[in-house]
Amino acid sequence: MTEAGAVPSVFVTRRIPSAGLDVLRRASVPFEIGHDDPGTAAPRAVLLGGVARHQVLLCTLTERIDVEVLDHSPRLRGIAQMAVGVDNIDVAAAAARRIAVANTPGVLTGATADLTFALLLAAARRIPAAHDYTVAGRFRAWGPELFVGAGVGPGPDGRRKTLGVVGLGRIGRAVVRRAHGFELDVLAATPRAADALPGVTVVPLEDLLARSHFVSLHCPLTPATHHLIGARELRRMRPDAVLVNTSRGAVVDEHALVRALREGWIAGAGLDVFEREPELEAGLRELDNVVLLPHIGSGTRETRDAMAVLAAEAALAFVRGQRPRHVVEPGRLPA
Ligand code: GLV
Repeated sequence: MTEAGAVPSVFVTRRIPSAGLDVLRRASVPFEIGHDDPGTAAPRAVLLGGVARHQVLLCTLTERIDVEVLDHSPRLRGIAQMAVGVDNIDVAAAAARRIAVANTPGVLTGATADLTFALLLAAARRIPAAHDYTVAGRFRAWGPELFVGAGVGPGPDGRRKTLGVVGLGRIGRAVVRRAHGFELDVLAATPRAADALPGVTVVPLEDLLARSHFVSLHCPLTPATHHLIGARELRRMRPDAVLVNTSRGAVVDEHALVRALREGWIAGAGLDVFEREPELEAGLRELDNVVLLPHIGSGTRETRDAMAVLAAEAALAFVRGQRPRHVVEPGRLPA
């Protein structure tokens, strides 16, 4: 498991796709893989032990990189995260210690936008429940009321539905492009007016919530977006609306969401992310109007390989004292 030796070296918290490890091997950079079970997160003790032995950390979103971790490694110079979101990393604490942070945006945009639509369609058309019904051998005949769901594109009367996109970064924009193909009208809520796009009406969040048949979340998790969608916001939504979350679980107050789904404030939800991942909020799994996925937004072979390569290239840049392609926090890197 260990390929560590000469310094500087990289601690890879858990096994990443070999395309990424090959970047380090080709550059003859010594590295150690902390955790080799693909089904579980790296234990805290493994993380703390590993970070103390190396100068560069290549981590994933399942590790909490907090002050304790940062202070466990007096020589840490860079953190390369194999994800676009960095809410698991205390970036301010890293900055205070002049430790650089990099992430992997761009390469996962299309895969995550696709999964957003997969969830939207699956929740609207009740696909998982219909699949289970078919596999269970219960399909006896076509039925006028069998798994009737909500249409996404224009109805038979030509009336278009509205998608509300919260956050117009790379992924939000890719969702907008797909929405146009589905002939949805698109509203967006964004804190940056400059994000406006053709074919998108930027409105305050409360208007978006009240007017959208589908609401899809694409903002990073920050103190400002924590529980952005809570009871008050869910009560503003249409009773026939579907909420889709492929961003971060804690953008939604899940306790309030379970109530909203149970009591019919909204019609359904498609969730790829959870507040206390991998734990599910009590009551969520018993609902029949949700589609739940295990955080697979970027989960295509080519995307995960590209993320691993980008994260490994960032780790390699940190080893060499160079600036990686996507810097979240420069630390003591050259400008
Ligand atoms: C996945 O959730 C990511 O942030 O890349």
